[in-house]
Amino acid sequence: MGNELELLRKRRTIRKFTAEDVSNQDLEVLLDAASIAPSRLDRRPLHYLVIRDKGLKAKLAEALRVRPYIEQAPVVMAVCADPSITATWELDASAAIENILLAATALGLGAAWVGSKGSQMWEQAVEALHTSAAVPAGIVVVSLVCIGHPDEEKRAYDPGEKLDWQRVHFDQWDKIKF
Ligand SMILES: Cc1cc2nc3c(=O)[nH]c(=O)nc-3n(C[C@H](O)[C@H](O)[C@H](O)COP(=O)(O)O)c2cc1C
Repeated sequence: MGNELELLRKRRTIRKFTAEDVSNQDLEVLLDAASIAPSRLDRRPLHYLVIRDKGLKAKLAEALRVRPYIEQAPVVMAVCADPSITATWELDASAAIENILLAATALGLGAAWVGSKGSQMWEQAVEALHTSAAVPAGIVVVSLVCIGHPDEEKRAYDPGEKLDWQRVHFDQWDKIKF
């Protein structure tokens, strides 16, 4: 298996971070990785709000009732989209977030994808970003990514570990064998 596929297996959600900061150099690598994710019609509707401010992180942790890792993470990145640019802003954002997670893994950092639409708590977190970080009204906050140096170890996935062959269909839905 090539290194690239090993990277996919090594990516795990990390929710414990050491006090070590994330360098701006590493941050730039993550942002660069996000920026080259696929985007329908190459529209690129995303914005990134890099949050290091402790007060703002505390507000997000409070809104989401997620403690302590939002506050522990030296960087919380809010991945945002401008829906006026493309209808697929949410899909574009998901691709960018996955690139951030993979790049973080490659750098030896840990990261957690946190928050998504549909819960009241998420709406409160988004509200906090509009009021406290001046995110414009027309911009949607898609999710947060907590980033830091890992303070927990998670094993890489084994080959086939999450692959459920019952969910793979060949030509016809009821044909589930090669
Ligand atoms: C859309 C989306 C939202 C998620 N939201 C959260 C979240 O709010 N909090 C969290 O701790 N993890 C969140 N996760 C991470 C999942 O919990 C995690 O991917 C899953 O448990 C599998 O673990 P793994 O990432 O180590 O493979 C989210 C993942 C996705 C794709």
